[in-house]
Amino acid sequence: MNFSTKSAIVRSFAKVNLTLDVLGTRPDGYHAIESVMQTVGLHDTISLSVREDGEIRLSCDMPGIPTDESNLAWRAASVLLEAQGKAAGLDIRIEKRIPAQAGLGGGSSNAAAVLRGLDHLLGLSVSADEMCAIAARIGSDVPFFLVGGTAFVCGRGEEVQPLPDILPVPVVIVKPPFGVSTPWSYRRLDEMRAIGDQSLAAGERQTASRHMVECVRRSAVCSLKSRLANDLEAPAVEQHPEIAGIKAALIESGARAGLMCGSGSAVFGLFETEAQARTAADNVVAVSPCRPCQVFVTRSVAREEALGIE
Ligand code: C5P
Repeated sequence: MNFSTKSAIVRSFAKVNLTLDVLGTRPDGYHAIESVMQTVGLHDTISLSVREDGEIRLSCDMPGIPTDESNLAWRAASVLLEAQGKAAGLDIRIEKRIPAQAGLGGGSSNAAAVLRGLDHLLGLSVSADEMCAIAARIGSDVPFFLVGGTAFVCGRGEEVQPLPDILPVPVVIVKPPFGVSTPWSYRRLDEMRAIGDQSLAAGERQTASRHMVECVRRSAVCSLKSRLANDLEAPAVEQHPEIAGIKAALIESGARAGLMCGSGSAVFGLFETEAQARTAADNVVAVSPCRPCQVFVTRSVAREEALGIE
């Protein structure tokens, strides 16, 4: 087979967590979580072409992004090719728009995009279960991006149940100039809970995520907006109070609700109309407590769009 003529372009979308409950530590050192994740339109574009020499080569237009085996997209290609016993290699070109250390899942999304793209290019038809197991080896958030759209996520992130698509909602994402480390956020939340901050206690019978699942199933977008919650916000805001300032600026600018994305540092706001989202984005740039912020006007993306391959 002549692999060299085979190429594909995959859009690799970001996610926001409508909810993120951290339930406690697990014996493997990870945390048990529940989350409702949502794909958004902000995306990287990944061009894949098969190489006959068995090498994996990665390039990226954003300085500072690793291009070696420490990049999750590189690892995804390596793990899938090895698991399938394939001698082919891969050229991976990433046009990066999703900021790093933002809680938007950019690296995990890139890894899932490579898994889907490579499966398509080589006609592997790997089963959904096997693909999810491979994705979970690469990172906790990677399995979500194989499902996309709106989904309930639990375990350490690797158990993903698709939910019906929510009605499209305009979203503004604000990324401050600093990032937040995910392992640090989880560790700091444990410390804050250990010193007895009861407002951060885990173990509520009905988590924010389970409430959110009900809202999504009922297509109750209004209550969806009042139910946003993220346990990792407290440690991130303690380290960077500006995060709370950005959220307040989004609400003052007309967002129906705002929340930090994942482990941070980006913050998103949900809006009624795209026009309101655009006006708010301009306003937030002016009033944000930290500069320079990157601001993205985007929208929720349904599953079918999230999983397209060109
Ligand atoms: O799985 P991933 O490599 O993306 O996780 C990065 C880090 O985030 C882990 O090493 C761990 O410190 C923390 N984490 C966690 N519990 C999770 C997911 C991530 O403690 N459910």
